[in-house]
Amino acid sequence: MSDITVIGTGYVGLVTGACFADLGNHVTCVDINPTVIDRLRRGEMTIYEPGLDDLVERNAHAGRLAFTSSYDEGLARADFAFVAVDTPPGTEGEADLASVRRAAESIAHSMRGPLIVVNKSTVPIGTGDLVAGIIQRTNGSVPFGVASNPEFLREGSAVNDFLHPDRIVIGASDPAVAEKVRGLYATLDCPILITDLNTAELIKYASNAFLATRISFINEIAAICAAYGVDVKTVSRGMGLDKRIGVSTLEAGLGYGGSCFPKDIQALEHMAAIQGLHPELLRAVMEINRDQRRLVVQRLRDIFGSLDGRHIAVLGLSFKPNTDDVREAPALAVIRLLQAEGARVRAYDPVAVPAAQRLVSNIEFADSAYAAAAGCDALVVATEWNEFRQLDLARLRESLRCPVVIDGRNIYDPTDMARLGFIYRGIGRGYDPIDQALIQSTTLAAL
Ligand code: UDX
Repeated sequence: MSDITVIGTGYVGLVTGACFADLGNHVTCVDINPTVIDRLRRGEMTIYEPGLDDLVERNAHAGRLAFTSSYDEGLARADFAFVAVDTPPGTEGEADLASVRRAAESIAHSMRGPLIVVNKSTVPIGTGDLVAGIIQRTNGSVPFGVASNPEFLREGSAVNDFLHPDRIVIGASDPAVAEKVRGLYATLDCPILITDLNTAELIKYASNAFLATRISFINEIAAICAAYGVDVKTVSRGMGLDKRIGVSTLEAGLGYGGSCFPKDIQALEHMAAIQGLHPELLRAVMEINRDQRRLVVQRLRDIFGSLDGRHIAVLGLSFKPNTDDVREAPALAVIRLLQAEGARVRAYDPVAVPAAQRLVSNIEFADSAYAAAAGCDALVVATEWNEFRQLDLARLRESLRCPVVIDGRNIYDPTDMARLGFIYRGIGRGYDPIDQALIQSTTLAAL
């Protein structure tokens, strides 16, 4: 069993720390934010991630998981230091490495014995060497090695993804260092790929870029579906049954959001462009993704003309279900676009309201989907929480002033919705006829 320090207690750091502790290691999580550390010490969760609270509680109770804001304390006995700090986008799309640099310097100042420093954060190609250089310059007297071990955790299923990974990638220039990191994962049943530092770093970006490309690809197909009266869900399934394609990450909708895809695709585009390359595919992926959010406004304008003064209910605020994370959430972009059109927004989300309150203003929050819909001119599904799939649609229709639903995540069946009397628009669910007679009768009647 090893002594592991994890730097940064965000989504990646806290999950990594708790899971390594659960595998039997002694783990200390370090965060420079003392408030976060105080809360974690009190057993309070700082993020919402299914299963994480139990894992933290169990391992802290067993004495395998501790929290501190002191690097000296955190690194006193460490064999490994995992760096899981933020790498936000800089002004030109590049990844901002300020936190990584600060963490490397602090590690160098506080390390006592031989240490392996492992980059978990998604960092630009060459960062492993950069971290090694910083440590060497700051404290060259203590032996150390550097590895890259990118995370492939999905928010909402991060604990399960950590403990049951598809693969583990370890990059290091020294094979002995890679072997030691491999040892930490010995009990997990999955392929382990050992590479050099740059390759491991690029594998992470290429993986996220590929997944984002699938999403923009199916969103482009969805637009073609709408033009030809075809349902993209069936196309997606028909494609996905081909083993070479697969069904996952092929759902059309309002596009990707979150803390990873948007910034990682942007950073990879920047890394290519700075080398004089023209990453046209990556640029198209980003452009399609931006356009998807505008579709909601377009659909509503088709129906209402102007949205000025219209009341719109938005279901879902987090960037995807099962998380309270609203970073780059399509829902928030849609809300801002609706507000720019003069619409008044009332929103509901099962867990993400407090997080959203910090980022959007002038919106009313409701405590249920029905309360959000009450008296509104239209309802937009922005995040596909399971509870929205199970709504009593007849009751929802009664709550709305006009029976208009823009389903940004394609969770309802167009035929059922039409039968229930909704004016329903999904993303690529066949023709989007502008049945003016129906629109006039249902929306005007409500006014
Ligand atoms: C992602 C990667 O999956 C993970 O490997 C990486 O380490 C971090 O980034 P995450 O950000 O948690 O994980 O989200 P993911 O579940 O991959 O979804 C990303 C976004 O794409 C969400 O906004 C989701 O709604 C959207 N999406 C996903 C689609 O629009 N269509 C799909 O078919 C799948």
